[in-house]
Amino acid sequence: MVFLSTCKTAVLAAFFLLSNNNVNASAVHINKRSTISTNPSDLDGKAFDFVIVGGGAAGLTLAARLSEQENKKVAVIEAGDDGEAVMERILVPIRVAVPNSPNDWGYYANSLGRTLHQPRGKVLGGSTAVNALYMVRASAEEHDSWAALLPDAPADADWSWNGLYPYMQKSENFTAPVNAAAISATVNASAHGTSGPVHVSFPQFVYPATQAWTPTLAAMGLKTDDPQGGQGWGGYITPNSINPDDGTRSYAKTAYLDPASGRGNLVVLLQSQATKVTFDTSSNPPRATGIDFQQSQGGQTYHVEVISEVILSAGVFGTPHLLQLSGVGPKALIESFGISSVVDLPGVGEHFQDHVLVPLTWSAPNDTVTGDMLIQNTTFAAEQLQLFHDGQLSQSLMGAPNNGIGYVSLKRLFNNDTFTTTFIQQMKENMTAVITNQGFTDETLRKGYEATYTAEVNTLETTEIGAVELLLGSFGSWNGVNRTISMQVAIQHPMSRGSVKLNSTDPFVPPVITANYLNTDSDWAIMRAGVRYLRQVVATEPMKSLIVEELSPGAAVQSDADIDGWMYLNAATQYHPSSTSSMLPLDHGGVVDPTLKVYGTTGLRVVDASIVPIGLCAHLMGPTYAIAEKASDMIKANPTANRTPNVRSGAESIRFSWMLSAVLAAVMAVLAVEL
Ligand SMILES: Cc1cc2nc3c(=O)[nH]c(=O)nc-3n(C[C@H](O)[C@H](O)[C@H](O)COP(=O)(O)OP(=O)(O)OC[C@H]3O[C@@H](n4cnc5c(N)ncnc54)[C@H](O)[C@@H]3O)c2cc1C
Ligand SMILES: *[C@@H]1O[C@H](CO)[C@@H](O)[C@H](O)[C@H]1NC(C)=O
Ligand SMILES: *[C@@H]1O[C@H](CO)[C@@H](O)[C@H](O)[C@H]1NC(C)=O
Ligand SMILES: *[C@@H]1O[C@H](CO)[C@@H](O)[C@H](O)[C@H]1NC(C)=O
Ligand SMILES: *[C@@H]1O[C@H](CO)[C@@H](O)[C@H](O)[C@H]1NC(C)=O
Ligand SMILES: *[C@@H]1O[C@H](CO)[C@@H](O)[C@H](O)[C@H]1NC(C)=O
Ligand SMILES: *[C@@H]1O[C@H](CO)[C@@H](O)[C@H](O)[C@H]1NC(C)=O
Ligand SMILES: *[C@@H]1O[C@H](CO)[C@@H](O)[C@H](O)[C@H]1NC(C)=O
Ligand SMILES: *[C@@H]1O[C@H](CO)[C@@H](O)[C@H](O)[C@H]1NC(C)=O
Repeated sequence: MVFLSTCKTAVLAAFFLLSNNNVNASAVHINKRSTISTNPSDLDGKAFDFVIVGGGAAGLTLAARLSEQENKKVAVIEAGDDGEAVMERILVPIRVAVPNSPNDWGYYANSLGRTLHQPRGKVLGGSTAVNALYMVRASAEEHDSWAALLPDAPADADWSWNGLYPYMQKSENFTAPVNAAAISATVNASAHGTSGPVHVSFPQFVYPATQAWTPTLAAMGLKTDDPQGGQGWGGYITPNSINPDDGTRSYAKTAYLDPASGRGNLVVLLQSQATKVTFDTSSNPPRATGIDFQQSQGGQTYHVEVISEVILSAGVFGTPHLLQLSGVGPKALIESFGISSVVDLPGVGEHFQDHVLVPLTWSAPNDTVTGDMLIQNTTFAAEQLQLFHDGQLSQSLMGAPNNGIGYVSLKRLFNNDTFTTTFIQQMKENMTAVITNQGFTDETLRKGYEATYTAEVNTLETTEIGAVELLLGSFGSWNGVNRTISMQVAIQHPMSRGSVKLNSTDPFVPPVITANYLNTDSDWAIMRAGVRYLRQVVATEPMKSLIVEELSPGAAVQSDADIDGWMYLNAATQYHPSSTSSMLPLDHGGVVDPTLKVYGTTGLRVVDASIVPIGLCAHLMGPTYAIAEKASDMIKANPTANRTPNVRSGAESIRFSWMLSAVLAAVMAVLAVEL
């Protein structure tokens, strides 16, 4: 049995050697094997130094960095498949199609009287395989205010800008735009990394509206220089996660996993959902011992043992859901499902926040090139795809995702200093009522909310950082109308908080996500001001020349009440949920400490977008890569002490079987060459 599967591995390894045309190369390739597997027995009953749950932005960063240590075995468990069936839709930037596909978790959030779709990538690469490719950074002050929430953080767990900035650069391979004049781009070269794994570059094709974007926001008074050195506000064209050589998406799989895929100490198991973190509850605090996983709902439960650490990178919904299923979270909630509580941790699933948006749409002159042409005219779309594949990147709309951004401060948004001062004052006065409205019975959650609310009001009051983001939409369509230009307003520092809560003991039943969008007076007022600000943007040259008529909400929608009514019906996620396993002090409802360890446990960390404790005025892929890069260094420097794993008898040391298969592979490769 063992021998047979070893033989199969060997044949596969030999095939890779041949297909790579590297049969003559030496030792490096001898270890080459199929890192990516769907066979549960590659993990079941075996032990790894690190077991990572989730192969997304954070998970694959960790997998690549931790497996740089040749003496450490690393396993990744990913619920989705390899994405090969939809690879063109992953790689061609604007072919992405998430909703209602098997590669979408298809979560729903309750809010605004509706159920709102919350897509998340269920595929190798996670949401980086399906997202909109914006590469954005927050501002230095925001990271500093995150760090200030953690006064007791050790010196080697510095989450300030200075502590995280080097990791933003480490993850990045930046390429300056070839069309800097067309997009009015300035580059601060010293702000960027050029030797990291994730490609960061600018699409070569430029829409007329994209060209008009930055000069228009400059005319509105916003700064337009490269924002990625810590001053992340203003109006600009942001780079995308695109490989400049062929225009394809650069995502967690291509950037981090593919270059590591020959490593014999790394296994990525696909189509396998982690269902439980197992604990040794006889030790104090409880020690994570491994992960239970299943390949289908109600299917067989497998188990992988951990030697050092279990790391949860299952994302902002997956991570708190898995913690709660494992008995780590609010005790009353967990016990109400008959699950025994391992650690009573009220913050698991709380502090949820998200950037909520509304889209406005205008018609453009009928000869304007707009993204909706790809939707309305299939012949045109096919031609554009061909141009992309032919490498005609400056000609093809297919390679040009959204990238116009405007981050507008509260002061600029209201454009009335008296009003702004009063508004900030009211936000402070209203804090207690807002928190009471959340209905927490737990005092630590109240304190955490108070701390993040206060930090974010302070950011709005004292900095130029965006209260809202304006986004220029390049693709999409409105009611079948041709030649439209869409722009969105999205709140960046919402005061509203939501939650993620277990709804069943069946791990395949999604949790209840309560988004609480626009749950405070200030969120409504800021969003409404954003709508009015965008109307000024399109009335400003050069954008003005590209605008014919407001289609949605339309000229009739003017009063506060009318705008609010329209926003209630049209608000949706900007896809930046965060904070559901917040890095906060324990007495502030925190879930992880500054070293990303889950309070009250040993051998368990969380590394993903769920640990971000406050709203960041940014899109979250870039920050998440940086968080995971930093976490990798922290884990390498200070791993949890090893335990003796409970390896199933008969399951031999995997390192030994790999060595055996590598030797066989080498022998077979030589034979094949000689044939
Ligand atoms: C449609 C969309 C558009 C977006 N656009 C942008 C953008 O343009 N720019 C930007 O910066 N950000 C964008 N984002 C957000 C960004 O992609 C995420 O913030 C980022 O990927 C978060 O990284 P993560 O590691 O926390 O989670 P993910 O990248 O989502 O990875 C989580 C992984 O865990 C797996 N998983 C979950 N539960 C389990 C389990 N129980 N067992 C096994 N595996 C599990 C998932 O399948 C997934 O692969 C977008 C997101 C979406 C959904
Ligand atoms: C450019 O980047 C450097 C290095 O990170 C930074 O110190 C500086 O403030 C940035 N300049 C601007 C104008 O943002
Ligand atoms: C960065 O990207 C450029 C463009 O693709 C490439 O030529 C270069 O080799 C990359 N650098 C690294 C260190 O990967
Ligand atoms: C564009 O609109 C003008 C004025 O309505 C019309 O004369 C012209 O034919 C239209 N052009 C196209 C290509 O539809
Ligand atoms: C659709 O696109 C094709 C190919 O570019 C073009 O020839 C045709 O005129 C377009 N049709 C319309 C109705 O615009
Ligand atoms: C500015 O705000 C103050 C206070 O809300 C208000 O009284 C005043 O009319 C506003 N000024 C303008 C020019 O709108
Ligand atoms: C949009 O253009 C397509 C052809 O490209 C046409 O069939 C359709 O009727 C147009 N839609 C509207 C609302 O004009
Ligand atoms: C939670 O579970 C109940 C009972 O199974 C179900 O009716 C409800 O729709 C679920 N709620 C959500 C938000 O999924
Ligand atoms: C503060 O609360 C009062 C009373 O509910 C409300 O009228 C006002 O709009 C709120 N202001 C802000 C900025 O939250």
